[in-house]
Amino acid sequence: MKAPTLHARLTRASVLTTLVALALNATLTLGYELQRFRHDAVEDLHTQEIILARAVTPSLVFNDPAAAEQQLSSLAEKQQVRAAVLFTAAGIPFAHYAAEGADTARLPLRNPLPRLGSRSAGEDLELAYDVYHDGERVGTLYLRARDEVWRRLAGYAAIQALVMAASLALAVVVFGRIQARITRPIARVAAVAQQVVERRDWRLRAPATDSREIAVLVEAFNRMLGEMESNAERLGLEVEVRQQAEEGLRMANRRKDEFLATLAHEIRNPLAPMVNAVSLLRLPDGSPALRERAVGILDRQLRHVVRLIDDLLDVSRITTGKLSLHMENVDLHAVLRAAVELIEPVARDRRLQLESAVPAEPCPVVGDAARLLQVFSNLLTNACRYTPAGGRIGVRARPAAAGLVAVDIDDTGVGVDPSMQERIFELFEQGDKSLERGNTGLGIGLTLARQLVRLHGGTIAVASRGRGHGSTFTVELPIPDGVPLTDSERAAAAAPGSAAGRRVLVADDNVDFAASLQAALESAGVEVTTVHDGRAALEAALAQRFDAAILDIGMPGMNGYDLARRLRAQPATVHMALFAVSGWGQASDRELAGAAGFDRHFVKPVAPGVLIEALAAIGGTASQEGVIG
Ligand SMILES: Nc1ncnc2c1ncn2[C@@H]1O[C@H](COP(=O)(O)OP(=O)(O)OP(=O)(O)O)[C@@H](O)[C@H]1O
Ligand SMILES: [Mg+2]
Repeated sequence: MKAPTLHARLTRASVLTTLVALALNATLTLGYELQRFRHDAVEDLHTQEIILARAVTPSLVFNDPAAAEQQLSSLAEKQQVRAAVLFTAAGIPFAHYAAEGADTARLPLRNPLPRLGSRSAGEDLELAYDVYHDGERVGTLYLRARDEVWRRLAGYAAIQALVMAASLALAVVVFGRIQARITRPIARVAAVAQQVVERRDWRLRAPATDSREIAVLVEAFNRMLGEMESNAERLGLEVEVRQQAEEGLRMANRRKDEFLATLAHEIRNPLAPMVNAVSLLRLPDGSPALRERAVGILDRQLRHVVRLIDDLLDVSRITTGKLSLHMENVDLHAVLRAAVELIEPVARDRRLQLESAVPAEPCPVVGDAARLLQVFSNLLTNACRYTPAGGRIGVRARPAAAGLVAVDIDDTGVGVDPSMQERIFELFEQGDKSLERGNTGLGIGLTLARQLVRLHGGTIAVASRGRGHGSTFTVELPIPDGVPLTDSERAAAAAPGSAAGRRVLVADDNVDFAASLQAALESAGVEVTTVHDGRAALEAALAQRFDAAILDIGMPGMNGYDLARRLRAQPATVHMALFAVSGWGQASDRELAGAAGFDRHFVKPVAPGVLIEALAAIGGTASQEGVIG
């Protein structure tokens, strides 16, 4: 069964209350009126009777029934009186009167006398009073009259009923209106709540109402909806952000997979010729020329793998904020010339025309020369790689906007589609990922170039009219106001020190590495003693005097850190320049090496030339004396 509505309940309650109030009022009023009418009617008749009794007294005294009859007949004027009987003192009917149509059979015309006083007899009232003359009872007068009280009461009741009906109708209308003012806004609130649930539309609001108490409810309901709306909005945004993050993660994951596949491909590529070169070297009857070729292959391919790994590490260092630049005054033109020089053999191999328009006079910028060289080498390598044989590559340095110098590297190669021009600077992004592209790197070069240029406060951009139209990469770098290269820097650049004659201790448990390094160092005139564990290294260092030690970190007996600490603690060895050469290249590894007392930290594989340069740089006169300042 359906629960009754609030409206129905309120209507029923209000109608019932009104009805009970009206009925109670009508009943009490009617009861009171009944008493009053009856009393008035009896009083009225009694007065009539007294007047009549006076009039008929002479007839009784003089025994004149005809006169008495006459007197009684005057009652005809009183329509209410139906009949009258006059008795003698002895109780014998003396005269009587009956109105037209009155029932004479019910008249008390025989003895005994009717009871004195007044009483109700059905629809009539009966009154009987004695008649006196000079204090002596001379007879009794009996009156019978219609009891008007019921008629009047009926009229009165009809009026009451009318009043009740009208009041009830009014109550229904008034209460109905009041209820409507209460229930309608509540019903609207309920309808809005229903719609919100069905449509999930939190923007809906319940309409305002002029009833203060209900307005509080409506306002609270709307405020709740407002809060739900902002919650839903916030949730929606969060979901959107999450979805975007998920999409980003999915993309990153896909790119990571692609990158790993490319990385595997790129590392396998140089490994294949290296495997071949090793087999060539193993040929028992291999000619010196063949061996020379095999070594050449190994050298080239190794460099390639090392470059790949260095690039990756550089990107990782930059993205983790761990790459620090060695900033100094640098001649940008000299850097450009060096980059052109490096790429010349590649351009020649690929039959590309390399045109360099770099002015002879120096262009001072503040930067890290090695990193700037890396930037331009990357751009020139790309130009060679993405320009078909017979093409042209140009390098040009020119003044740009105030305080800036620009370097353009343009080519007549495959060009870059406009849609790709921003993306190619992103990590692992490549314009052409198809199998046909051949051996074309990892998609790191431009990322690295851009990050390095940014670290120098500059910008890098590409301009190309699209595929097949060549491209121009422009690097802009800030020029500091009036900073010439210092004389000492020029002198240092012009006359680098020599490592010849240095006494160096090499300690590495990788016998091949130690032996090959010894051979390379000796070829540069360095005097080398080689050992293969930490303890032997300490003993050797204490036994002879060395200018420097090149130490592995992971060694049996004593690790490189402990060895460095011991060497730094001994007066006989404290002067030595200590170089760590390790497979661990994280910033934390460098920190550990520095803390243990190493002067420099090199990551394997390191070219012997780099170590020779480092040995040459450990100080002219000081190293002559075997002491590092
Ligand atoms: N000079 C150029 N001409 C046409 N496209 C170029 C040129 N330089 C770069 N690109 C496009 O930009 C992409 C990204 O270059 P980037 O140097 O970052 O990576 P890569 O050359 O593919 O590999 P890596 O440099 O890591 O060996 C390239 O794959 C190529 O599609
Ligand atoms: Mg590249």
